[in-house]
Amino acid sequence: MATPATSDRTHGQSTGEPAKAAPPVCEFRPGLEGVPATQSAISFVDGKNGILEYRGMAIEELAAHSTFLETTFLLIWGCLPTHEELAEFEHDIRYHRRIKFRIRDMMKCFPDSGHPMDALQASAAALGLFYSRRALPNPAYIRQAAIRLLAKIPTMVAAFQSVRKGNDPIQPRDDLGYAANFLYMLNEKEPDPLAARVFDTCLILHAEHTINASTFSAMVTASTMTDPYAVVASAVGTLAGPLHGGANEEVIDMLEAIGSVENVEPYIDRCIAEKQKIMGFGHRVYKVKDPRATVLQSLAEQLFDKLGRDRYYDLALEVERVVSDRLGHKGIYPNVDFYSGLVYRRLGIPTDLFTPVFAIARVSGWLAHWREQLATNRIFRPTQIYTGEHHVPYESIEQRQSKASFDTF
Ligand code: SDX
Repeated sequence: MATPATSDRTHGQSTGEPAKAAPPVCEFRPGLEGVPATQSAISFVDGKNGILEYRGMAIEELAAHSTFLETTFLLIWGCLPTHEELAEFEHDIRYHRRIKFRIRDMMKCFPDSGHPMDALQASAAALGLFYSRRALPNPAYIRQAAIRLLAKIPTMVAAFQSVRKGNDPIQPRDDLGYAANFLYMLNEKEPDPLAARVFDTCLILHAEHTINASTFSAMVTASTMTDPYAVVASAVGTLAGPLHGGANEEVIDMLEAIGSVENVEPYIDRCIAEKQKIMGFGHRVYKVKDPRATVLQSLAEQLFDKLGRDRYYDLALEVERVVSDRLGHKGIYPNVDFYSGLVYRRLGIPTDLFTPVFAIARVSGWLAHWREQLATNRIFRPTQIYTGEHHVPYESIEQRQSKASFDTF
């Protein structure tokens, strides 16, 4: 006869003194809400007041004055670079932008219908095949791996886009900056300077956001001391989900499904009545409008002024008005994924590349946490509250009655 579980804190423990006192046990928090998983000096979010800082600097200031590579340097190495440091960093990244022909050939074997996030995850992991695995992390190794990942991830995203259309990948152009080069590789056309600047600012806005799901995933993977390519590949897989980075694609699908401004109220009311999540809204930490959404909205307007308005923008404004009216009391407002898709659409980026573009930016944050964690690493190994049985007797196959349920979780 099986006995019910008590708790894994008592079951099976010896009565002897433990070698090291365990930290106090907290209650179970679904989704680890409010549970600190690390100490970090990289970024700061105040969800009540809509504040985001990278290394103490306001996101709005960085969006207005910095560049993505300068911000990346700030996130990873903790300070803004000098002229010389920035020039060397940018030079090294340009030098490493090309990808091995074997990686390009590997992509040619991927199905054209496969999602670009899956292609990116596989390609990021494949980098580990070419560059020394599990080297003892030292400052030079960290810098080298960071440069390779930052340089090659955009090339891999653009290469899969070419390959799935049946074309050869477009080679990176050394005379173009980070953002302009990516848009060039994607569209085979040098971008308008405003488009390049807006895209670079989008990368700044998406670069880092404390311990979100993909960064936590990166940290768990990193804590085993595996290589940084595996760290980034695991984070890419986590970012892909529709509750996280994948929401930016779903926002466009939602706007398409809504179709016209008059349909917004009935559509949103139906979602709320059916308890469906409205994509691009809500956040575990922000209970006001995400400050990145505010900046992205103004970037979208700048682009529309120059390149023409997107027909979905009026729909998006109405969705924001209706959702804020219906769910504002619960602290549900637009998050980073709500307006980013409108900017990317205007830049000619296909919808299913929105999340890979988020990944291009977030590589900075993942690498910053990887470097920070290596300084004081301890493998992640949380506990659980066991809710199963004990002492269950083994039944022979002849004795068994079917108990499996395939219709429920
Ligand atoms: C990102 O963590 C980060 O920092 C992530 C990110 C980053 O930069 O790394 O900011 C990027 O991932 C942005 C989030 C993108 N995801 C979406 O836009 C998907 C839609 N949003 C949600 O599913 C949701 O808001 C989450 C996933 C973002 C947050 O989930 P939580 O904190 O677990 O909240 P919850 O699902 O438990 O909801 C709490 C309440 C519920 O109502 P009650 O049952 O308590 O009455 O709020 C409601 C939910 O129903 N709610 C929503 C809603 N989000 C929350 N209701 C309708 N639409 C929504 N979008």
